[in-house]
Amino acid sequence: MIESPVITKIPYGGDYNPEQFTEDIWAEDMRLLKLAHIDILTLNVFSWAALQPSEDEYDFDKLDRIMALVKENGFKVCLATSTAAHPAWMAARHPDVLRVEFNGMKRKFGGRHNSCPNSPTYRHYSALLASKLAERYKDYDNIVAWHISNEYGGACYCENCERAFRAWLKKRYGTVENLNKAWNTAFWGHTFYDWDEVVAPNLLSEHFEQDRTMFQGISLDYNKFMSESINECYRLEYDAVHSVTPDIPITTNLMGFYKPLDYRKWAKTMDFVSWDNYPSPDDPYTLTAMKHDAMRGIKDGKPFALMEQTPSVTNWLPYNSLKRPGVMRLWSYQAVAHGADTVMFFQMRRSVGACEKYHGAIIDHAGHENTRIFREAAALGEELEKLGGSFLGARTRSKVALLFDWENWWAVEFSAGPSVELKYVNEVHRYYNALNKLHIPVDIIDTDSSLDGYEVVIAPVLYMIKDGFDSRIRNFVSKGGKFLTTFFSGYVNETDLVFTGGYPAPLRDVLGIWVEEEDALCPGFVNSFVYNGVKYPAKLICDLLHCESAEALCVYESDFYAGMPALTRNRFGSGEAYYAATASDEDFYLSLMSDICKGCGIDALKDAPAELEITLRAKENGSFLFVLNHSDNELSFTLARKGTELLTDTEIKAGQETKVPPKDVMIIRI
Ligand code: GLA
Ligand code: ZN
Repeated sequence: MIESPVITKIPYGGDYNPEQFTEDIWAEDMRLLKLAHIDILTLNVFSWAALQPSEDEYDFDKLDRIMALVKENGFKVCLATSTAAHPAWMAARHPDVLRVEFNGMKRKFGGRHNSCPNSPTYRHYSALLASKLAERYKDYDNIVAWHISNEYGGACYCENCERAFRAWLKKRYGTVENLNKAWNTAFWGHTFYDWDEVVAPNLLSEHFEQDRTMFQGISLDYNKFMSESINECYRLEYDAVHSVTPDIPITTNLMGFYKPLDYRKWAKTMDFVSWDNYPSPDDPYTLTAMKHDAMRGIKDGKPFALMEQTPSVTNWLPYNSLKRPGVMRLWSYQAVAHGADTVMFFQMRRSVGACEKYHGAIIDHAGHENTRIFREAAALGEELEKLGGSFLGARTRSKVALLFDWENWWAVEFSAGPSVELKYVNEVHRYYNALNKLHIPVDIIDTDSSLDGYEVVIAPVLYMIKDGFDSRIRNFVSKGGKFLTTFFSGYVNETDLVFTGGYPAPLRDVLGIWVEEEDALCPGFVNSFVYNGVKYPAKLICDLLHCESAEALCVYESDFYAGMPALTRNRFGSGEAYYAATASDEDFYLSLMSDICKGCGIDALKDAPAELEITLRAKENGSFLFVLNHSDNELSFTLARKGTELLTDTEIKAGQETKVPPKDVMIIRI
């Protein structure tokens, strides 16, 4: 989180773009924002063209006035560097800043997040701007964070990137022979004899669509290279501001499960993680919860900042439904419940032109405080003020770890086969959803994370086994841990070359099985199995496997593989390793997770229905239980210990049944 001596409560505010409005409005903005109990403003997100009107001219006058105004009015600042959209003059004068798209199209000026990450011009001028901003505003003691660029993303396929890719490959593989081996280029006669023969994998070369490639090896490497290239741009700016203001923490706003960037690696270069939460109105709340946990997980469980959410509507979904009364508050607390230490929005005042003019804002086009959104925002602001900072910095303590790995994600979905419906996030979510509904806290980790302290590690669709990860699992299980993996696991190494000798090759001994074939079920086809006396569907993929030392806990009921194992358990050392050979419905995961994760739930809780979301954050001064009712019905729960509800300041007795109205929230100090 944003650790700063001036932060004593949950910072509340967000993106404020006064440069889009005439200055006569600014004073009224100050009045309205204070009325809404807002105390932090993210400034200067898209002002590069104003700050640098030409190649050798800088003009900070307007930003000076904004910074002064905001400080006078007592706001904290999250100061952005404005480098997410380059100026038009730069594109005209230095076309190397313009990206080449996946389809080979060279861009002209336009849009945003549009600069080539390997453009020497972009790298030079973005870092220079960041350092000028740091120099100019370093004495503002109300700057609590740097916000580098904005929502980095996408990819570039220009010649500069291609050249940099070749250099990256050379460093990684040393010789062209190693490269040929790693990518299996003997297939389709793709053997390279010179580094310069390698071209960027896109629609002009190896891809038939964005996510489907003829050579997984090159496409995986390009993703890694691109994620690193873009991160290098971030780091150039990081270093520029850090050298001037070493005490101000630095972040950039991430986007949850954003596929192109390996956020786990990015997080290592960030002082704290921040992210933008824009769920679709029909997303299950457990998916949003999983994103929050993932954003907490990439920085080893440290609290994060909720940098953006909309107060009401987005403008970019196909159907931009309103957040129903209470939902903005509920989703704000959901973020906090999973580890956010800020509640921030995009945006403070609604634009009057261009594509975001219908995106929600605290101050609407009506321009006054008499709106539903303003009232809800002000009420939440007041509540956060009263709550203070008692749980700032509090951590989630989980005995269960769920593995999510970006490179594995790329590899699973680059694969031609086994099923277009196999989506990594969905498969991980099946397990997360069950754990959430069983009120079992989860840490989302990856293959580099330590497994110490966990009782259970769940790794759905662990298709790629990185060097050494198998021995860490072996060690974890032999010392008493429980491990579960699923179909389509243990197939390939880091360059997507298959491990021969039977899947899930490096994990065969610990799982005590070998998989011979896998059947991808066409839409409408299901098999079935019985677990704990209940019949469940077998969907998506059915692995045909043989037990070696494992026992079959259930078997398929139909088709030519009726009687073959659908779920296995192997005792290995003092632990157990499970293999779920197929996918099923929510009820199955609830049953399986409650069996495997016994004793991993929140012990302050005696009883609660699945639809009531409950999390726990703890620090030295106490434990805080968050109870969130996402449903449209009243729900109730019972505590095992007594506590104090902080929003209403009421005591709750152990064993007392407590009701939670629809869309309401309780925060209980235990
Ligand atoms: C993103 C961006 C903002 C704005 C919002 C609108 O999160 O960071 O600049 O475009 O989306 O939803
Ligand atoms: Zn490029």
